[in-house]
Amino acid sequence: MAFMILLNGVPPHGWVKRLKAIDPQLDLRIFPDVGRPEDIEFALVWSPLPGELKRFANLRCIASMGAGVDHILRDPELPDLPVTRVVDPSMAQAMSEYIVMAVLNHCRYAATYFRQQREQGWKIHIPRLAGRTKVGIMGLGQLGTHAANRLAALGFKVAGWRRSPGAVEGIETFCGQDGLDPFLGETDVLVCLLPLTTETRDILNARLFGLLRPGAFVINVARGDHLVEADLVAAIDGGHLSGACLDVFRTEPLPAGHPFWDHPAIIVTPHTASITNPSVVAAQIYENYRRVLAGQAPLHRIDRRRGY
Ligand code: NAP
Ligand code: GLV
Repeated sequence: MAFMILLNGVPPHGWVKRLKAIDPQLDLRIFPDVGRPEDIEFALVWSPLPGELKRFANLRCIASMGAGVDHILRDPELPDLPVTRVVDPSMAQAMSEYIVMAVLNHCRYAATYFRQQREQGWKIHIPRLAGRTKVGIMGLGQLGTHAANRLAALGFKVAGWRRSPGAVEGIETFCGQDGLDPFLGETDVLVCLLPLTTETRDILNARLFGLLRPGAFVINVARGDHLVEADLVAAIDGGHLSGACLDVFRTEPLPAGHPFWDHPAIIVTPHTASITNPSVVAAQIYENYRRVLAGQAPLHRIDRRRGY
């Protein structure tokens, strides 16, 4: 049973090293030099091209290299097989660190002070105090719940929005379409941590921005296709939003000349909020390979109809 690594835009070396350390006998094939396609029964993938996976007639499981699976499910010819994703505490920790950084940067005007210092400026901006700032997290899953708890521990008021009914312990929870507008109406800092699905694509748009509290700040760490970029710029330039911190974009890398690069109220980072670390995650990927080999159900399987 051959194990294929098919990572578009990501170097495979770290995975090869870690997987071989776990199982030196593993029959590892690196795409595109995989030999006979019918040998491949397990695939670790990132951004496979549409139609790429259907060539492997004996494939039994498709494992996402990351937490998201939109990069797999967008393939209209995707074989009808179990798709798994990464669920890892160190990824949740890294994501929380990024979100805490972005929220504190906004509340304490860090980027403004960096700019001021370059101009030897001495102007005080009154801090937005945690106890008076409500952070609203869209998506209360593995990553959103972790970040919500960390922000609450710092003294922020925190709420979350999720798809299915049911409270998340310790966090004010809003659910479904009916819960969206009331959730937004109380939000000073909005964090998007939703999976990209047909329901959530373009969700960060003019209507949604208009419902946030005046001066609200937007943090998008989910996917670029959640955000209608022109609506964000219009909401900031129109004065309703104070700015945004963006880690993900419709086109990555963000193209040269894109308006976000030079916008004084937009912070851009290169999809680094929470990067999968092969040295930690290879063990769970290998465990799924072992399970598939043994005819058992793989861990962290996503629901293809739901899209996450
Ligand atoms: P997860 O555990 O599957 O959680 C997803 C959350 O979103 C759940 O709470 C779910 O609601 C909610 N949700 C889904 N569809 C919804 C809808 N239509 N309306 C309202 N809520 C909805 O996912 P995760 O592990 O936290 O990861 C979230 C996303 O983060 C990933 O899909 C990926 O795109 C992104 N990500 C980005 C980076 C980065 O470096 N920037 C790194 C890792 C992941 P229920 O609780 O009701 O199911
Ligand atoms: C990164 O974006 C991931 O989905 O893990």
